[in-house]
Amino acid sequence: MVNKLKKLPQAFKDILKVASKQASSLGFKIYLVGGVTRDLILGKATFDLDIVVEGDATVLAAKLAQRRGLNFRRHHAFGTAAVYVGEHKIDFATARSEYYPHWGSLPKVAPAQLKEDLFRRDFTINAMAIGLNKADYGKLIDFYGGVADLKKGLIRVLHKESFLEDPTRILRAVRFKQRFSFKIDRDTDKLMRQALKLEALTFLHPHRLSDELILILKEEETYLYIKRLYELTQLSFLKKKMKMDEKDFALLRRIDKAVSFYKRKFKKGKRCESWLIYLGGMVIRLSLEEILNFFRRFGLKKVDIIRVLSMKENLHKIKRLNKKLLPHSIYQLLQPLSIESILFFYAYYPQKKIRDNIEYYLRELAHIRLKVKGEDLKKIDLKPYDLYSRLLQRLLYAKIDKGLKTKRQEIKEAKAIYRRLVRRQPRLL
Ligand code: CTP
Repeated sequence: MVNKLKKLPQAFKDILKVASKQASSLGFKIYLVGGVTRDLILGKATFDLDIVVEGDATVLAAKLAQRRGLNFRRHHAFGTAAVYVGEHKIDFATARSEYYPHWGSLPKVAPAQLKEDLFRRDFTINAMAIGLNKADYGKLIDFYGGVADLKKGLIRVLHKESFLEDPTRILRAVRFKQRFSFKIDRDTDKLMRQALKLEALTFLHPHRLSDELILILKEEETYLYIKRLYELTQLSFLKKKMKMDEKDFALLRRIDKAVSFYKRKFKKGKRCESWLIYLGGMVIRLSLEEILNFFRRFGLKKVDIIRVLSMKENLHKIKRLNKKLLPHSIYQLLQPLSIESILFFYAYYPQKKIRDNIEYYLRELAHIRLKVKGEDLKKIDLKPYDLYSRLLQRLLYAKIDKGLKTKRQEIKEAKAIYRRLVRRQPRLL
């Protein structure tokens, strides 16, 4: 098992050694837990660490952060803390048992030993730990048969109430099943379907629902996850009688392809939040009112709702791309849109002309900017100044259509546009 820990990046290994010594001097015990333990056993690279402390997690994390000069954040309400190592983080939590006052609510917690802490977790494969103390450094701790389930490829809950107490686990089961190509254990599957019959997913606060749904939408080959989720739940927790058919799944699949095409071909392009494109694909056939209700239930933030709605709003406008256009007209249509909307349309429309025009925009046009600024126009004494925004816009379109490269070319073109503008409207002078 020590070898498994060795797979961690060196920076983390050093920090764990220090944390181990500090915990021992405080009389605490510490363990690596959850997904990171699972991934280390599976031999996968993993970076965000979860540490459970038998003792006060915030005291240990503060001491570690101070010693290593790391950023540190404490969450008093939960008795947890995070230490930041570059862009990664190590979460520290005091070992605890949980009690759920209502199904779907956040739990009440009490300090406990590791064994109880692991018992409150979602699945056996996520309920293992690796000791980080002198006596058990690197040793696997597996009270509930996690390794055996990993070997068998099984997702199994630890107790009968698991899905009712925390219905997000229904979504997590779908996610892990698809990610690892695992099966859901027979009894677990029964419990999950019973929870669904009781509409357990509707007990959840929309924000918890959206956190977990967005995680699903961020997985690779997202379309398969949405399909599984629909097969299991018909998404009725988001919309009663939600209908998705082969046409929708084909669109989601095309979105998968559009996203990987963009990641492959435009490595230096704008960062794309692909999960929003899938959401667009899920709701595009609904009416505006249905979409708003769907997202209310989903718990989607207002800014993100607006981003998805823009896909619906611009759907018809984009059909104009289905013919030969001057480059600046392509630019005019696509430049105001987010990269997520543009990729949505790339997936949505099968017409070659539309797709070629979008590709051409992404490759050749999206980054074009003027070298000339207002100050340059002032320097050559073009007046009045309130003409500039119109002039600069025409100059940009001319640059796009004519492929102007240098600032000198732009200045020359600006003068010509200026002459045309004032000739047509001499009152401007
Ligand atoms: N956990 C849980 N029930 C939940 C969420 C989390 O029991 N509803 C526990 C699991 O032990 C899980 C750990 O908290 O492994 C960390 O949660 P999280 O970071 O959300 O999941 P990971 O298992 O690390 O999954 P991923 O690989 O997607 O990060």
